[in-house]
Amino acid sequence: MELKLQNQVAIITGASSGIGAGVAKSLAAAGAAVVINYPVPAAKDGAEAVLAEVVASGGKGMVAQCDVSKEADVQKMFSDTVKLYGTVDILVNNAGLQKDAPLEEMTLDEWNFVLSVNLTGQFLCAREAIREFLRRGVDPKRSKAAGKIIHMSSVHEVIPWAGHANYAASKGGIMMLMKSIAQEFAWKKIRVNSICPGAIQTPINRNAWDTPAALKSLLTLIPYQRIGEPEDIGNAAVWLASDDSDYVNGASIFVDGGMLLYPGFTTNG
Ligand code: BGC
Repeated sequence: MELKLQNQVAIITGASSGIGAGVAKSLAAAGAAVVINYPVPAAKDGAEAVLAEVVASGGKGMVAQCDVSKEADVQKMFSDTVKLYGTVDILVNNAGLQKDAPLEEMTLDEWNFVLSVNLTGQFLCAREAIREFLRRGVDPKRSKAAGKIIHMSSVHEVIPWAGHANYAASKGGIMMLMKSIAQEFAWKKIRVNSICPGAIQTPINRNAWDTPAALKSLLTLIPYQRIGEPEDIGNAAVWLASDDSDYVNGASIFVDGGMLLYPGFTTNG
């Protein structure tokens, strides 16, 4: 059986752990060659471990260090990828972080750090991807589209989040970045969408699930009554990257167990 992403090349930013690692494995299982990006030397082992899993399952890929907030780093990651694999078909703009603080205590550094990785990083990577998609154009042997960008947003592109103003602002920004790029390049057959995860069990939100009391409290926010797994996001990414979603463009796809359903209103209001 032909795999959905056969002959395609995907860059996944922030893929040495968490959601990015899960997405890299899912895309590789669907046949894509995966570029597993990691931000700093300390994360190299994590990226190599993801690559080892990919290879053990019959997939292929490479690791690439790059701080997505640095223009030169991003350009080098894309040119290295094109050198090795010839082009890029799929960008999963996933790298993101939290630096939580009550607003009155939030430093400018905490604000800038989150915005530069979560939002500016997604701009820089999307711009390089768009340049490569425009250069290559549609190749029907690869995909019906000239390229696909998947932004990793969050339920917090919609749900305000006290104590996380920098993070929520970055995700709200991603929503309009995604829609604007989608509108600008749809006629070039480039598809741009977001996945908006709810609570997925990864290091970023460890304190929300690592004790029974924390998990119980978290589940009051999730109608489907389970925490998400990276694979839940990986499955959505494979679909958004494949021609199965060829008519989907400019959409925010919420993969959140119903977190956005205002669960507090189930028995109230
Ligand atoms: C955050 C997690 C949080 C989830 C649901 C995500 O975007 O990174 O820390 O658990 O949203 O609130």
